[in-house]
Amino acid sequence: MSVGSEVFDGHHKIIIDCLNALHPLLGKPGAKEELLTILARLEQFVLLHFGEEERALRQAGYPDWRAHKDQHDQMYDVVFNLKTGVEKGQNLEAEYLHEIIYGWLVKHILVEDKKYEPYLAAKG
Ligand SMILES: [Fe+2]
Ligand SMILES: [Fe+2]
Repeated sequence: MSVGSEVFDGHHKIIIDCLNALHPLLGKPGAKEELLTILARLEQFVLLHFGEEERALRQAGYPDWRAHKDQHDQMYDVVFNLKTGVEKGQNLEAEYLHEIIYGWLVKHILVEDKKYEPYLAAKG
């Protein structure tokens, strides 16, 4: 699932590793602190990754960078709400995690991030 940038491929792997690490904790009693640790890492990391990606897209003259940024902002909101929900004691539903977070983030990487590959390649 390469997007043609070693740096961004590495970022994506870290994001997916975080999502995978959440799975075994779903429905596990007493796993709140572990969940929050992973969600905090995911939150910090998506912020860093989204920021760097947006900067690279602008520098590469990617025409849809603003729409891409809007998607990032929406995904960040989902991660943020998930984290604050768990902080307040809400259960993290496996189905929700899979459909919304996994489906969304991974789909974003496979479909939307893939679109910028030729622009970054042209920039070198
Ligand atoms: Fe990305
Ligand atoms: Fe992206």
